[in-house]
Amino acid sequence: MIRIQHTYAKLDTLHTTLLLQLKDLPEIIYYGERLRDAEDYSYFGSGTDGAPLSSADDVCSNACVLSSSGDGSNRETMLHIVAADGSGTLRPVLFDAKVQKGKPLFQSSLPSSYGESESLILCYKDSIGLEIIQYFTVFKDSDVIATSVRLRNTGEKSVHIRRCMSLQLDLGKGDWEAVTLDGASQRERCPHRTLLRGGSLSAASFAGLSSNAHNPYVIARNRSNRGGCIACNLVWSGNHRQIFDLSPLSGLRLLSGINDYLFNYKLDPSETFEAPEAVFVRGEEETEVCEQMRAFAAEHIVRGEWKKKVRPILINSWEGFLFSFDQKKLMEFCRRAAQVGIELFVLDDGWFGKRDDDTCSLGDWKVNRQKMGGTLREFADKVRKSGLMFGIWMEPEMISKDSDLFRAHPEYVLSVPQKETMEIRHQRVLDLTNPKVRQYMIEAISSVVEESGASYLKWDCNRGIFDLPGAEELFYRYTLGLYEVLDTITKKYPKLLIESCASGGNRYDLGMLCFTPQIWASDNTDARSRLAIQEGTLYGYPQSSMGAHVGASPNPHTFNSSSPDTRFSVASAGAFGYECDITALSEEMLETVRAQVVFYKQWREVMQFGRYYRTDSVFDGEASGWIFVSEDKSRAVAVVALPEKGCSAIPFRARFQGLDPNALYEVSSRPQKGAVPVFFKAYGDALCHGNIRLGNLFTESEMHEYSNQVVTRMFTFTRIG
Ligand code: GLA
Repeated sequence: MIRIQHTYAKLDTLHTTLLLQLKDLPEIIYYGERLRDAEDYSYFGSGTDGAPLSSADDVCSNACVLSSSGDGSNRETMLHIVAADGSGTLRPVLFDAKVQKGKPLFQSSLPSSYGESESLILCYKDSIGLEIIQYFTVFKDSDVIATSVRLRNTGEKSVHIRRCMSLQLDLGKGDWEAVTLDGASQRERCPHRTLLRGGSLSAASFAGLSSNAHNPYVIARNRSNRGGCIACNLVWSGNHRQIFDLSPLSGLRLLSGINDYLFNYKLDPSETFEAPEAVFVRGEEETEVCEQMRAFAAEHIVRGEWKKKVRPILINSWEGFLFSFDQKKLMEFCRRAAQVGIELFVLDDGWFGKRDDDTCSLGDWKVNRQKMGGTLREFADKVRKSGLMFGIWMEPEMISKDSDLFRAHPEYVLSVPQKETMEIRHQRVLDLTNPKVRQYMIEAISSVVEESGASYLKWDCNRGIFDLPGAEELFYRYTLGLYEVLDTITKKYPKLLIESCASGGNRYDLGMLCFTPQIWASDNTDARSRLAIQEGTLYGYPQSSMGAHVGASPNPHTFNSSSPDTRFSVASAGAFGYECDITALSEEMLETVRAQVVFYKQWREVMQFGRYYRTDSVFDGEASGWIFVSEDKSRAVAVVALPEKGCSAIPFRARFQGLDPNALYEVSSRPQKGAVPVFFKAYGDALCHGNIRLGNLFTESEMHEYSNQVVTRMFTFTRIG
């Protein structure tokens, strides 16, 4: 997979080749479709089209995988180091290049991808005694390349790392467009396209979480003919920065790494600093790189018991009850849920301390016996007796001022002397850089998991970090602390399914996915909003990771109302569940839910782990749609959605993807209230190339009943010949 020959290192993935010329600063001389091995590649010349001009600032304009402050380029660079004497010039020189089977492990708690692989190791040295070790790992079954950087101080004096990005790819000239996933709470990860015309664009986060503002997953797309696309992501859950730096001279530089905001890491002699792993992939089309990244996350990031196991259908107490429940209410809730075939009950916020609202008790992870009618074990046993697995909510990184934990250990909180500690949602952040706090957290989580015998844990985190003691290393060390706790818990309870959450999807990234196979995509459960949030999320993350629930109608966040069918069609695109007061549903509605659950169980293997294709985008055109196709293409499930109401019934046509062109499929619509059933047989080629008429999607009854209806239809495909 990797070959060093003469002065070249050739990294072959399944379908691509990254060719580096090994010199003082290795140059990218080719990155594209896979090449056969050759003796000589000198005809590629220098990687960028830029020609250094003798009188210009940009004397260093080659396409490289590493750059540094003071390297002669007038642009964003990868490493900013300040030496003990205050100097900022770093001129690393490659002194060794070798290939190693497998993947180097991090010494710190940083998580990373795994799998059968081979790595190229490039070692550089600078005269201040800094050694830079850069890894590029290729995998047997993927086009994604993983890369990471370690800095080792072999000198006698401390140096300060002001910036250490994990990835640099110089991609040359082109008609470049940046695709970023941006948003906010309740509208996470909306894809945006920015034409790059000059300067640099940075998608970054600043509050200690990977954030709902700008996700670390980005794509650089060259709109020129056959320009290709490069997607990259970071295995990191803290502050990050993705930079698209466009130089008029040498084209696009893509940098990905931790955010250098306030960052100033002191590296003492003999110490090593590890930057998180970045992963990247090149393909001709955007859909291709997205597919590669989803598959990579599912195969090489998500791990453990639940990696390939179908995820249970859950029902969560939050939207139905918020804080106001008691044992009786919850048991009735569980009884109903079990009756309709739901498999897992999740006891959300409000079960511990004296927490009847959000003003207190975070940190006091002891059951409120009065509310729960006994011990946590007794309650959980009752839930299991009703036929459901038991799951529970915690927000382990947080503390309320009004809590026994705070009264006993005010020093556990991140705060700055003489400054009032910021409260958001009446809560403060625990100092995860403190080993005692991490120990407390491990004990608190363990006791909840063990006492309840929980099968599932919802790990929430509802605010960012704005109290910044020891700011220069805080964000980095906080995230390492978080990973240490997650690592301990996942090793201790390997069967526990953890779904992470951060006010919805404020920390949706590959770092969390190394520990938690699911992430709650958004608190917004409205089908209309979810079409956008989920489409954006699926750019870079597999659908099995994406928590998606049927909420109430009207939706408690947007007040849109929509049919049970629509809510089901949209939520079933992810790790599926319900989030409403099931005790308030009519018998008829319960029947509907039962039918949904039966259907979901029959098809969930395909829906959770099949290959995802976007057939229509909610961001352009009149429809939104997708199809999940099983690996052997024998089964598929598709959804088409019309977000805008028409004035009359519209006959809708759709074109599918991913089916076997030579196979005959039986296509049928999932029975939906008021919808004309569709049933026919067709070959995969016709289904994917033709425009299939799917009947009238808007029915009058639906239009009357629901205020802001997104109409959906769901279809199944079964290969019959
Ligand atoms: C956050 C989560 C919700 C819910 C509440 C509980 O907002 O995103 O799903 O768990 O906290 O307080």
